Amino acid sequence: MYKVTIQSTGRHFPVAPGETVLEAAQRAGIALPYSCRAGVCGSCKATLIEGYCDYPFNPPVALSGTSPAQHAILLCQAVPRCDLTIEAREVTSVEDIARRQVDVVVSRKWMLAPDVIGLHLKPASADARLTWLPGQYLDVLLDGGRRRPFSIANHPQADGTIELHVRHVAGGGFTSWVNDTLQVGDPLRIEGPLGTFVPREDAERPMIFMAGGTGFAPVKAIVEHFIALGTRRPMHVYWGARQAADLYMREQAERWAASAHDLSFHAVLSDAEQALASGIRPGFVHEAVLQDHPDLSGYDVYMSGPPAMIDAGRKLFTGAGLPEERLYYDSFDYAPDVLAQILGNRAGIVGL
Ligand SMILES: Cc1cc2nc3c(=O)[nH]c(=O)nc-3n(C[C@H](O)[C@H](O)[C@H](O)COP(=O)(O)OP(=O)(O)OC[C@H]3O[C@@H](n4cnc5c(N)ncnc54)[C@H](O)[C@@H]3O)c2cc1C
Ligand code: FES
Repeated sequence: MYKVTIQSTGRHFPVAPGETVLEAAQRAGIALPYSCRAGVCGSCKATLIEGYCDYPFNPPVALSGTSPAQHAILLCQAVPRCDLTIEAREVTSVEDIARRQVDVVVSRKWMLAPDVIGLHLKPASADARLTWLPGQYLDVLLDGGRRRPFSIANHPQADGTIELHVRHVAGGGFTSWVNDTLQVGDPLRIEGPLGTFVPREDAERPMIFMAGGTGFAPVKAIVEHFIALGTRRPMHVYWGARQAADLYMREQAERWAASAHDLSFHAVLSDAEQALASGIRPGFVHEAVLQDHPDLSGYDVYMSGPPAMIDAGRKLFTGAGLPEERLYYDSFDYAPDVLAQILGNRAGIVGL
């Protein structure tokens, strides 16, 4: 067993042979940031102060472009080769919530947009109720150990109802099954809560929220949480999609803007013709954020949605002065097993 120490807090935990730093931290009840668990999104990036590690599973794709002098480490893939000292941001608010596998039943299924399905899941029994923080996600457990991650679109309800917004991915096995076959009354097994995309309440800074497509789901949960708290912090909510129909809860977001204290809502469409026809602002959603807020140094930014949007936000927002530690995100990548297969195929092709 090797030992990993977090330099700033002095907290430490043992890592079993072959275990990743993230898995070992979770086993020890220490919450370090993560999202995709596949090495591609970069949300688990930390600084390696001392020691060495290997990447025996997926290659650390999210470190490409990082210079060796920056001593970066990807916690979800790094397996220590000796004792390590790291610097990482702990997300203590999620530490006390136990992750559980529970059975749920589909209690409602409806079309939110032409390719987005809304699902309500109810606990199958009284002890199958999940607790979560707004913005966290769950895994739907499938045969053969496969999992499909989806963000929870609501905050915890008295009856335990979980709301999901599921985009039907072309060629996607699970989401096609949800679209074509899943019915009200069907059972599902889920595990949660997962992820560290949660509200940070230790500051008074204004906040920017940027969602792409169904990335609106966790943003909705977090914004509703801040509204329920009666926050006085200004909130600027941006939601980007290709066409107007994809902004499937636009009226709800407009109601927030009309009733909440200092909240503005901005819809953005990337399809220029659709934008012209609907009168909605044209362009990419990250461009709209930067046009309105060219200096992001005084903000906290939350973003979730497709990997391309997240990549653009990571690069451009930090370039506009946003400190990296105040950028919180969930990248809607494919499931870890699918990414492992894709990365494995790619490594085989290029002879890595
Ligand atoms: C933290 C997180 C939260 C998320 N939250 C949401 C959410 O709230 N709503 C939402 O809609 N989505 C969300 N996603 C994305 C969602 O998990 C994926 O869309 C889902 O896993 C797709 O499952 P599937 O079985 O339908 O597709 P899969 O069968 O996994 O296939 C996905 C795609 O990959 C392709 N593919 C599969 N295998 C290979 C291979 N070997 N090589 C090349 N291509 C391949 C398929 O053709 C298909 O296009 C989230 C993702 C993450 C990581
Ligand atoms: S790269 Fe590690 S969680 Fe995404």
